[in-house]
Amino acid sequence: MEKPDYHILVCNSFRLTGEPQGTCNKKGAPALLQHLETEISDRGINAMVTSSGCLKVCGKGPVMVVYPQGWWYGELDEAKVDMILDAMEKGEAVEKLFV
Ligand code: FES
Repeated sequence: MEKPDYHILVCNSFRLTGEPQGTCNKKGAPALLQHLETEISDRGINAMVTSSGCLKVCGKGPVMVVYPQGWWYGELDEAKVDMILDAMEKGEAVEKLFV
């Protein structure tokens, strides 16, 4: 398996019981996750996306983190995700969207 250039964690508010209940999930993280997966595939970005438990910045949800850079983004919607992916294609971050 080729190692991805980026590993993106998307908070989906999973709890230990496996039940998603938190802020990011309620604010649309599942749809954002689907959008992100589709865009990454369409754009041919070498990234792995993982849905995560609470990342402890609930007030900024929906939240995602891009590794290995450690770029934390918050208050996301589809337009902001597109902006972030546009920047990633150039190897850049969108600092104004950092948490
Ligand atoms: S529920 Fe997403 S950061 Fe807490």
